[in-house]
Amino acid sequence: MNDEVRGWIGSARRIAVLTGAGMSAESGVPTFRDALTGLWAKFDPAQLATEEAFRANPALVWNWYASRREAIAKVEPNAGHRALADFQQRHPGRLTLVTQNVDGLHQRAGSTGVLALHGNIAADSWLDLPRNCCREDDVQAGTPPSCSVCGNLRRPAVVWFGEALPPAALGAAQNAAAHCDLMLVVGTSGVVYPAAGLARRAPGKVVIVNTGPTDLDEVADAVLRAPAAQLLPQLLAATAR
Ligand code: APR
Repeated sequence: MNDEVRGWIGSARRIAVLTGAGMSAESGVPTFRDALTGLWAKFDPAQLATEEAFRANPALVWNWYASRREAIAKVEPNAGHRALADFQQRHPGRLTLVTQNVDGLHQRAGSTGVLALHGNIAADSWLDLPRNCCREDDVQAGTPPSCSVCGNLRRPAVVWFGEALPPAALGAAQNAAAHCDLMLVVGTSGVVYPAAGLARRAPGKVVIVNTGPTDLDEVADAVLRAPAAQLLPQLLAATAR
């Protein structure tokens, strides 16, 4: 099956890739829902990854993201991230990378034009609409930092549950999914929309790379049960035209 999928990749002119937390698992970044390593195994997402949770307890949520930022800063992109970046460099314009991950590892591996649907954990934004006084170069230190004039809080620049995805990235991702000849769905449980919906709208072949079953298996033309860092280098190796 892997050779057949390599053939599909070789003949696909437009490839869309959707990645999730499993893409970064072999870099040592915990996934969300895996029972053993999943971040959610330790707490209820509604307690931390929502605007309401942040407003209720800014320090707790800020510190949780700070601990994740610290952990992510210590890890490296894996062979799967590098395989995707290398393919993009060998075939400019042929592969669009959409990720639900906020760890920045695709970008660090050299992928370009990454559509980061859920934001970037390394960046901050303002909790409330910024006023003229809210200047990123003049924030007051704190947990979390804030505007030194009006007290507007800084927050992680990630998409929390219930928040809208960045319209430009989502629109580009939907366009890539709607026009691809092949979609690779890597390391995602496929339970969070609209990201998971991209795989259901792809007109071409859908290939899933995952170590376990997912909600999207039913729409796949091929389900490859293997770790992303091991399989992607094989699927995307240079001989794929
Ligand atoms: N290779 C491939 N797949 C893997 C690997 C691996 N080495 N390790 C784990 N997986 C798979 C798991 O089997 C699971 O299907 O990765 C998937 C991870 O699923 P989740 O933990 O649900 O993460 P994800 O799908 O990215 O979650 C989507 O939900 O919590 C929100 O915003 C958060 O972006 C996240 C979104």
